Amino acid sequence: MKTRIPTTRRRFLSAAARAAGAGAAVSLLPAPFVLAQPAKVKVGILLPYTGTYASLGHNITDAMIMAIDEAGGTLGGRPVEYVKVDSEADPAKAANNTNKLISGEKVDFLTGPVHSGVAMAMVKIAREEGTITIVSNAGADAVTRQMCAANIFRTSFSNWQTCFPMGPEMMKRGHKKTVSITWNYAAGHEMIGAFKEGYAKAGGQVMKEILIPFPNIEFQAHLTEIASLKPDAVFTFFSGGGAVKFMKDYDASGLKKSIPLFGAGFLTDGTLEAAGAAGEGIVTTLHYAESLDNPANKRFSAAFKAKTKRPADVFAVQGYDTGQLLLHAMKAVKGDVAAKKEIMAAMRGAKLDSPRGPLTFSKSQNPVQDIYLRQVKNGDNAVIGVAAKALADPGRGCGLA
Ligand code: BEZ
Repeated sequence: MKTRIPTTRRRFLSAAARAAGAGAAVSLLPAPFVLAQPAKVKVGILLPYTGTYASLGHNITDAMIMAIDEAGGTLGGRPVEYVKVDSEADPAKAANNTNKLISGEKVDFLTGPVHSGVAMAMVKIAREEGTITIVSNAGADAVTRQMCAANIFRTSFSNWQTCFPMGPEMMKRGHKKTVSITWNYAAGHEMIGAFKEGYAKAGGQVMKEILIPFPNIEFQAHLTEIASLKPDAVFTFFSGGGAVKFMKDYDASGLKKSIPLFGAGFLTDGTLEAAGAAGEGIVTTLHYAESLDNPANKRFSAAFKAKTKRPADVFAVQGYDTGQLLLHAMKAVKGDVAAKKEIMAAMRGAKLDSPRGPLTFSKSQNPVQDIYLRQVKNGDNAVIGVAAKALADPGRGCGLA
């Protein structure tokens, strides 16, 4: 699926109306004066709009466009054309979809994706082509480690960042033996791996790692196995539609009463309305919570709700900050997309007033951010602590200075 969204349509229509109204006067002007409009900036968006991650793709897209619309709908004074491609969260289609945007559409900027496997293919091509790319969700560690490059930025997180701080928190609660359960692909492996690293350092033991093919949501047999293993707790990464199903099945199986459920915060972000009572009490770590009490978040979450009729979540925040980063860099070069070195320098040095809290970038161009400890209370992710302050990904294997 490829869709064009002329966000500046209203401006163009009113400009056209003004031109039509000016009638005879306009026709006396030489053609270049009549037609001169700054060229559009093309922003390519590779996100899932179908499948288990569809809601994530929609929130990232809507919030990114909202940020740019709030600033007048232009980037560095130039109108914007968004070119959307449905990634279907399918790594097998990622190279083709990326080429459609970079070589076919010749986008000035590339944004997305959600799925770590899609990100690996997308970033590989973007590095080779030199397209300035902002990863607006996928946490694949390699993107800002061994695959890092001057033209690759991330406004979201590394998979390591979101889960490493959880181990000590679970040990503080006396949960010494855990079973992990996740999807069998890069994000699942890396999140569980990061959790295990922090947990082992704090003295915890992962008894069993259960891996389920992505995007499978048949959990019953695995829940039966967890019951027989009798761990102190369960740690998980699921997101989108799969997260809702997992929380509901975990609750319905009766396990939630005896074995507390922990996870990367994607489990309970954007999913709580659908999960209902099944979400209550779950403890997670993440770089955002809708309940965060800061002015940027209050303003953002109200505006997002007003625009979309949906509650804000971490995915919307990442989209919004992608819009903010584009605005910041394009303002610095006054809309000159050819000034790539200056655009990248502006992005590297950006200090964004993000709804998640102040946002800066590490040398590997990944966010440096607080990781919040959250617990679901009355249908909200309540912030119950800060699991890690200003956490940077180690950026191992990235040579950017
Ligand atoms: C990932 O594949 O990197 C991912 C997908 C959904 C939520 C978080 C991470």
